Amino acid sequence: MPVKLHVNVDHVATLRQARGTPYPDPVEAAIACEAAGAHGITVHQREDRRHIQPDDVERLRARVRTLLNLEMAATDAMVELACRVRPDFVTLVPEKREERTTEGGLDVVGQHDWLAAITLRLRDHGIAVSMFIDPEAAQIDASVDVGAAHIELHTGDYCNASGEAATHELARLAAAARHNARTGRLHLAAGHGLSVSNVAALLHAVPEIVELNVGHAIVSDAVMVGMEEAVRRFLRAMDRA
Ligand code: PXP
Repeated sequence: MPVKLHVNVDHVATLRQARGTPYPDPVEAAIACEAAGAHGITVHQREDRRHIQPDDVERLRARVRTLLNLEMAATDAMVELACRVRPDFVTLVPEKREERTTEGGLDVVGQHDWLAAITLRLRDHGIAVSMFIDPEAAQIDASVDVGAAHIELHTGDYCNASGEAATHELARLAAAARHNARTGRLHLAAGHGLSVSNVAALLHAVPEIVELNVGHAIVSDAVMVGMEEAVRRFLRAMDRA
């Protein structure tokens, strides 16, 4: 089965928020992504609302025809939003107000009981739960334990590395994917920092990946070539694996 591409449209909203205009609209961007063949749409509702707003999530729920993945911090307020809007799945991520973007994976081992309780509440509302984690066996085992159905491996260290360091990071991701295939067998996604230049090597080294989450690079290309063409270019880059 071909690897699925879920496009994160947060930075369409970043551009809108920069001027407080009604445009560009992340919902229109999501529809263009779907028209170009994206298999799902992702948004991160940050607590500081710096890009996506709760109203965007509701409008996306009404218009997205593929799958809607809501990334969010594991807090009561975010669980209430998710249970009201009912995305197809939620990805729990760590969130710090001062960070520019998500830094590092969620510590599922350290927050086991809290994440198990949050996962149960979301599952009771028919929402599958993914944990965004660093490529470590202990975090995968803990994700299985708290009731997650999916994991998303953090690819940021791989994307920020070059040469031997990048090879080392690919080996870490591959070992984590093999661990998941042997044990938990959770639906395996990956994301953060991926671009047309680094995605094929990732998919070649880690064939267990079934889904990618890509935002910044696609929205950046979309500024130059339009959203549909940016998504098609990314899908072609994935095919080169
Ligand atoms: N996956 C997760 C869990 C994220 O938090 C982000 C960034 O919002 C991404 C994927 C996408 O990362 P990028 O914008 O670097 O493609």
